[in-house]
Amino acid sequence: MRILVTGGAGFIGSHLVRRLLSSSQHTVVNLDALRYSANLANLATIEGHPQYTFVQGDICDQHVVSSVLQVHQVEGVINCAAETHVDRSILDPGSFARTDVVGTGVLLEEARRAGVQRFLQVSTDEVYGSVETGSSTEEDQLAPRSPYSASKAGGDLLVLSYWTTYRFPVMVTRGSNTYGPNQYPEKFIPLFVTNAIDDQPLPLYGDGRQRRDWLAVQDYCAAIAHVLFHGEPGQVYNVGGGNERENLVVAQQMLDYLEKPKSLIRFVQDRPGHDRRYAMDCSKLRRIGWQPSIPFEQGLHDTVEWYRLNTSWWRPIKSGEFREYYKQLYGKRLKEGVTG
Ligand code: DAU
Repeated sequence: MRILVTGGAGFIGSHLVRRLLSSSQHTVVNLDALRYSANLANLATIEGHPQYTFVQGDICDQHVVSSVLQVHQVEGVINCAAETHVDRSILDPGSFARTDVVGTGVLLEEARRAGVQRFLQVSTDEVYGSVETGSSTEEDQLAPRSPYSASKAGGDLLVLSYWTTYRFPVMVTRGSNTYGPNQYPEKFIPLFVTNAIDDQPLPLYGDGRQRRDWLAVQDYCAAIAHVLFHGEPGQVYNVGGGNERENLVVAQQMLDYLEKPKSLIRFVQDRPGHDRRYAMDCSKLRRIGWQPSIPFEQGLHDTVEWYRLNTSWWRPIKSGEFREYYKQLYGKRLKEGVTG
């Protein structure tokens, strides 16, 4: 299949591009705007691959999108392009509505006009909102609570409306908290690992008892590919790792792997509107033949090792734009501690 992956220089996107190219059956075009969390170093191993093309461009740019679809005669689209970080959505909500709703809309409409055969929207469990007990199924009502999750929910609804209205063959995957190598160090696991390596405090929000379901990025990419080829049009598929853990426990585990003291954990003021727990029922995806394969303890250990061995990947990131962001988000919090 000739596949367009948008956001292919980002975390999930770059793992996906490499995975798709590992089978000689596909050609891949990667359309990426190269904003702050994108990194072409993630794709160094496939540079010059005969079945791979990189195009720098924004999914909001109708002209670029339609030309890429036509020039490369794209048959399948996987939309990984997104603003993804909840804390940044609290600081700058507008950019999330722009990329995650408007950009998704532009890509979708151009794909429909170009006669694309499969369109897969990469989404998130956060659209269900905080789930105090039980687990969300694909039929549950959406209840997003942050500008990030509300924007993703808007994108999902737009995508699904194209099946209802035009019978355009769309699918949506809703992934749980994804982790692994090459994740931008604003996210919980890479932030805590890289801070710990440098003996810096780990800013744990609130009481640290929030729960997330951790999914290895390799497992998520396998699920996305599986849904692209075997999913039913018009359907949503929940993708979870089956590894529900409290943040505090995960933080302690990372410190253990690095042989660093627990005293590095610093309880700080909570994220506004912080969702307490996410949990999904993933039986629908299991029924079409996918299940996670990487046990969390092994995946976390390997991820910690990757960041320990690849300081040349993350050190330049943490010394650039990131420094200002870190100061803005954590400076006061770290000074004041949890009572601030
Ligand atoms: O659930 C899927 C979602 O997972 C994805 O859709 C999002 O793109 C991704 O960012 C992630 O959202 P979270 O808000 O759950 O991830 P984050 O890594 O920001 O935080 C994970 C948990 O750790 C959350 O309960 C907040 C907490 N946390 C996070 C950071 C960055 C802290 O306690 N301290 C921190 O400094």
